[in-house]
Amino acid sequence: LRLLSVASECFPLVKTGGLADVVGALPAALAAESVAVRTLLPGYPGVIAAAGQGQQVHQFDDLFGGPARLLACRAAGMDLLVLDAPHLYARPGGPYVDPQGRDWPDNPRRFAALCWAAAEIGRGALPGWCPQVVHAHDWQAGLTPAYLRYGGDPRPGTVFTVHNLAFQGWAPASLLAELRLPPHAFDIEGVEFFGGIGALKAGLRLSDRITTVSPTYAREITTPEEGQALDGLLRSRADALHGILNGIDEEAWNPAADPHLASSFDAARPEAREPNRAALRARMGLAEDPDALLLGVVSRLTGQKGMDLLLRCLPALLGHGMQLAVLGTGEAALEEGFRAAAAAHPGRIAARLGYDEGLAHLIQGGCDALLVPSRFEPCGLTQLCALRYGALPVVARVGGLADTVIDANEAALATRVATGLQFSPTTAPALEAALARLAALWQDRESWRATQANAMRAPVGWARSAGRYAAIYREIALSAR
Ligand code: ADP
Ligand code: GLC
Repeated sequence: LRLLSVASECFPLVKTGGLADVVGALPAALAAESVAVRTLLPGYPGVIAAAGQGQQVHQFDDLFGGPARLLACRAAGMDLLVLDAPHLYARPGGPYVDPQGRDWPDNPRRFAALCWAAAEIGRGALPGWCPQVVHAHDWQAGLTPAYLRYGGDPRPGTVFTVHNLAFQGWAPASLLAELRLPPHAFDIEGVEFFGGIGALKAGLRLSDRITTVSPTYAREITTPEEGQALDGLLRSRADALHGILNGIDEEAWNPAADPHLASSFDAARPEAREPNRAALRARMGLAEDPDALLLGVVSRLTGQKGMDLLLRCLPALLGHGMQLAVLGTGEAALEEGFRAAAAAHPGRIAARLGYDEGLAHLIQGGCDALLVPSRFEPCGLTQLCALRYGALPVVARVGGLADTVIDANEAALATRVATGLQFSPTTAPALEAALARLAALWQDRESWRATQANAMRAPVGWARSAGRYAAIYREIALSAR
């Protein structure tokens, strides 16, 4: 089956979060299901550099304000289609923001252009290759199903995956014509959302199938509490909505062969993990205190991730004699909070406020427990890495966190199936209670080691989920219609 995957990020070429990991891991996982994936990405400078030797396979005389071309290349083990449109993507900064961190004002146009190109490919623009299914990810790719739908039949099947309902890609209605949407698209059954154009809403409304990244999040988003004003639409499409759990790339995240670790280990050699604890302490400037429980955080520093709650729990954490290593970037106030905490408690709390792939691996392989106190979490990938690396995940019982961690309650300990700790609701008192439970488990080393061993053997790869995606693709593939 021929699949076109469309996204604004893809590891290792461009990444701000888990979306990139998923988009980068799916092609290899789907190959095992006989799905041949080509991935369409915007031609940001870093992506163009990777596509260097790319071959031009299509050109657009005017793609939303300038000429553009599609380059085909192989990079990072993937078949890429890179949309080289300098007027839209040849800019410094991140994929969405300028070097000062402000959203580019023409983001609606930048990502509509990506969707337009995807739809053209879906209609056979490339010589010798036409996808049977187009899989669009998040709001940046959300207009893809719209362009395909309004272009009429025949068209490929469409899947839209929502990785985070909070990012909705809203644009004013005045852009309708500029974004090449027909007047009749401006309708509650089309792209209209709160008087403007909703790219996420369009993807949810106009795709053949909707998926999201965990079964629990799939349920949560059909409720008014978690539905971000889209719960009604999602309830009306319940038959088309599937929750499919993310996995992690088990080659990139393999503690037995990880160049970022001080010492390789796996479930059969957990004691070989110990040098990584010391290496992490040394790297972060934490006191050498081997008996102290070392906590880790690898996260965007935002309200979604509950990082304000963690700041409020630091006195309790220190009271238990624990240490904390934080890696993350995000909201200025939260960054400042962790910076101040580290300054006030040298040797006990350390914070690296930046993006550091290697340090992320060392934290996973060196900390005793990883904290993920999210208010909502579509799936979450860091707790999956933590499981594989033997860091007990301490997670809020929401979304994919609820689906991937088995709480070390009495029953789970007695039957030896626990893999971490869950707490609920996502509040500071509940997080403090979880820290107290964690401290008690740390004292019971036998139970700790059994839980850690279970964690390291928990399935965190893509095998099951790739099969579920493939089954959906086959149901809606063009040839089968
Ligand atoms: P989200 O996509 O909501 O940020 P996920 O848990 O799904 O959350 O994915 C986050 C990804 O980004 C993981 O691969 C994690 O290791 C990585 N990550 C987050 N912050 C950093 C950072 N500061 N440095 C390195 N990697 C990070
Ligand atoms: C989003 C979500 C995260 C999920 C990731 C990949 O960034 O916040 O929970 O793991 O997408 O699907």
